[in-house]
Amino acid sequence: MKIAIINGPNLNLLGKREPDVYGNATFESYFETLKERYPAVEFEYFQSNIEGEIISKIQEFGFSADGIVLNAAAYTHTSVGIGDAVKAVSAPVVEVHISNVYQREDFRHESYISAHAVGVIVGFGLFGYELAVQSLVERT
Ligand code: DQA
Repeated sequence: MKIAIINGPNLNLLGKREPDVYGNATFESYFETLKERYPAVEFEYFQSNIEGEIISKIQEFGFSADGIVLNAAAYTHTSVGIGDAVKAVSAPVVEVHISNVYQREDFRHESYISAHAVGVIVGFGLFGYELAVQSLVERT
């Protein structure tokens, strides 16, 4: 089973960025743990700060992977293009947010992705990625 994880802008700064909101771990260290927990899953990982690159990766993985875990970060709240890409692909997409966006500013309560995702996981920290992976494993 192949699962792609796509992270959007500023998530390359996890560990340094607002640790009170996002925690102290880097995504790379968490990703190692995730891979150990799911040895049967073939993971692909992609992070970009550029909207079009994220759209291209959704298109690429969206017809070859068995599922996508997507944290589009700030683009969640602004990008019609990423929402359209999620809608366009055949792979199920699980939307993840590390923080509980509903406890934060109003603009973070809107998502162009949620309507096209199979589910949304919000507020469980990095553990949310594991919940998303588990949900995709259960679907197969
Ligand atoms: C985020 C929430 C977004 O509102 C924010 O812009 C991010 C990260 C999260 O994982 O909690 O960059 O997607």
